[in-house]
Parts: sequence; structure tokens; C-alpha cells
Amino acid sequence: MSRRRGGTTAGRDEGPVQATCEVIARRREGAYWLLSMAAREIAERAQPGQFVQVAVDAPHTLLRRPFSIAHVSRQGASAGTVDVVFDAHGPGTEWMTTVEVHDVLDLIGPLGTPFPLPQRKVNCLLVGGGYGVAPLYYLAESLLRRQLRVDVINGAATAERILGAIEAKRLSASVTFTTEDGSYGTKGRVTDVLEQVASASRSGLVYACGPNPMLRAVSELCDELGLPVQVAVEERMACGIGVCFTCVVPIVGRDGFVRNKRACLDGPVFNGRRIAWDQWGVPGGGVRPGAEAEVVGSGSARGAAAAGSTSGAAAAAEAPPADAVPDAVQAPPPARPARGASAPIDAEADADADAETDAEAGGPPAAEEQRRGRP
Ligand SMILES: Cc1cc2nc3c(=O)[nH]c(=O)nc-3n(C[C@H](O)[C@H](O)[C@H](O)COP(=O)(O)OP(=O)(O)OC[C@H]3O[C@@H](n4cnc5c(N)ncnc54)[C@H](O)[C@@H]3O)c2cc1C
Ligand code: FES
Repeated sequence: MSRRRGGTTAGRDEGPVQATCEVIARRREGAYWLLSMAAREIAERAQPGQFVQVAVDAPHTLLRRPFSIAHVSRQGASAGTVDVVFDAHGPGTEWMTTVEVHDVLDLIGPLGTPFPLPQRKVNCLLVGGGYGVAPLYYLAESLLRRQLRVDVINGAATAERILGAIEAKRLSASVTFTTEDGSYGTKGRVTDVLEQVASASRSGLVYACGPNPMLRAVSELCDELGLPVQVAVEERMACGIGVCFTCVVPIVGRDGFVRNKRACLDGPVFNGRRIAWDQWGVPGGGVRPGAEAEVVGSGSARGAAAAGSTSGAAAAAEAPPADAVPDAVQAPPPARPARGASAPIDAEADADADAETDAEAGGPPAAEEQRRGRP
């Protein structure tokens, strides 16, 4: 680990940059850790929902580790800083707890698609689990600048794992805490209170970030309630830049077919109601026995199955899959009836997600402004 001052290796053009970043602060945040880094080129480009890939220097850690951008500062004394909040549980994240102020880390970012912002006036409900609330608070700042009402559900297993309780209160019209053991707020899960909070706050759009099982439960409930929902998923990543297809997520297209989208490039933000949750992580990509598998672009049905595998083992082994193929088209999952008002589901990639948010919650075009990277 070197201790020279940070600087970037790329210019000011659009897209992610690789940067050597000086660590400004490292501290505990309840059960988690926060790292604040001087990364001006990334801070200038970042939008809520995007992530950075951090090079770690622990033994047997070839791959960078992805972390949601929890906050960036573009003004004031801390201008040009990028924060990540992380849970230390494996070699890479444990190593990150040993980093000291003035150390220099190698980052790539901002990566992935941001949360699409509403195009019209709509109340927004942010649902976070564990450290997943961090990028939602960053999103809340953008929503508040648009003078939108923000309500928060912040859930975790225990009180210690509730992140940013004070920040949640500062940013939201109402905040509801849930813990599974009942040590803070309502005993239970975020989905136990979601319908009631969404109704009381008259929310018309839900954003969620947290463990994938939570995102699935939130998406399925929103589907029943007829609420649009954008979720930031986690999938194991190798390259982080769209090359290796380690990180695929099965997304139902408007034509009803399932295509594998890359969480690092097409995501990590997806329309939660478009994720084929049953097919995610299923060996063979969820292609049912006897179902035809067609591959768009170059590749084969075998490749489709390979691309459909979420390849977690490959990432765990620090090696990308060799024969993954993009955009495997699979049999559509059975349709689920909506309990509440019907809402069209359009989003399967970032542009479509903008369209959906526009159609369901939108108004004057904020999408163009968002693409230009303005807050
Ligand atoms: C888009 C995105 C955003 C994320 N944001 C955060 C965040 O804000 N805070 C946080 O604590 N964690 C976040 N994660 C998860 C974080 O990347 C993993 O916890 C971390 O890579 C684990 O590395 P490790 O060496 O400590 O653990 P190990 O489990 O030993 O990691 C081994 C391998 O598995 C991969 N891996 C393990 N768990 C995950 C996971 N949940 N998601 C993706 N890859 C994983 C690692 O990258 C590595 O390649 C995010 C993941 C993604 C994909
Ligand atoms: S990690 Fe997404 S394509 Fe390589």
C-alpha cells in the first residue's frame, strides 16, 4: 500500500475512470465501516445507484471488490470525496478495515446504471436493508432537490445493523425502522410495514437496496400493490465492466422473454418487477427442461445456459467463466396477477427504466439532466 497523494489516470470524458485515491477518513458506522476517499474525477461523474470497484491488497484477492457509492461531495471543504460503507466479512473487506488515512487506494468508477429519477411529482418510498440504505440516502438527496416527498423504511436483523438512523430522520418525511429481533423499531421485516407506509405516505414509486432476498420480497409485494419499484441488486462480479458475464441477472423483456443482463453494466439498478427471481442463480439460467433456448447474437444454446448461471462460484474462485454468452433468451416465467392498480412495466435496462419511471411517475424530462450527471 503506497502513501503518495491520489490522482487519476483518465481525463474528464464520460464514463468510469480509474483513479488512485487518498483515504480521507475511515471509521465505524455501527456494525459497518465507512471509507471516505479523495476521488474528484469519480465524485464529479457519480450518480446515486452507481458503484466503484476497489482494488484490494489482501492475499488471494485478484478481483476488485464492488461497493455502492454511499455519498459524494462536490462542494465545500470535502469536495471531490467519495464514500463507501461496507460490511467486513471476507478477505477483501477485512483488508479494507486496515486501510489508514492517507493511504492510497485504486478505484474504478462510477460504474453501472444509476437509479432513474422520477419525471413528475411523485412521493418516493425508499426501502433499505442493512448497509443497503447507504446509496438510498444518496438518492434521497437528489429526490429532495427535486422537492419530492421521501419516506424511508430502514430494516436490519438487529439494532446494531441499522445504518444511519439519524440521517434517515433528517432526509425523510417519515422513517420506519424494522429489526428481525425487535431490538429497534417494529419487530419484523421491511415487507411487514411496506404496504401500510406506502399507503400512509401516498408513495407512487419505490426504490430498494439490500440483500437480494429482501429485494425479491419487496418487488413481489410492489407487484401485488401495483407500485413501480427500482432495485439495486448485488451479484458476484469479476471484471465489473461488462466483459466477463459473471454477473448476469435474468430480466423479463417487454416481449415476455427472459434475457440475461449484466449487473455491472445494465444494472445494478433494475425494475424489480422485471427480474425473473425464480430463474436467478439457477444452474442453466432457469431454462426449463424441454424449453427452447435461443441466443441473440453470437453463441449457442449451451452458451445460453452458461450465461444464465450466475457464476457465483467463478467469482468466488476469483476467475470469470470462460464460455458465458450474452443475452440468452429463455422461456418467459408465468405471469403474476397484480392485486392493486395496474402499472405498465417497461424497464429492462437504464433507458427503459427512465421510460417506465416517466410513464408511471414522470413529467418534465429529468432524464436528460440525469444523463449529464447533474445532481
Ligand atoms: C453493485 C454492488 C454493490 C455492493 N455494495 C456494497 C456495499 O455498499 N457495502 C458492502 O459491504 N458490500 C457491497 N457489495 C458486496 C461486496 O462487493 C462484497 O461484500 C465484497 O466483494 C466481499 O469481498 P470479500 O473479499 O470481503 O468477501 P468474499 O466473500 O471472500 O469475496 C469473495 C468473492 O466473492 C465476491 N462477493 C462476495 N460477496 C459478494 C456480494 N454480496 N456481491 C458481490 N460479490 C460478492 C467478491 O467480490 C469476491 O470476488 C456490493 C456488491 C455489488 C455487486
Ligand atoms: S462482472 Fe459484469 S460482465 Fe464482468
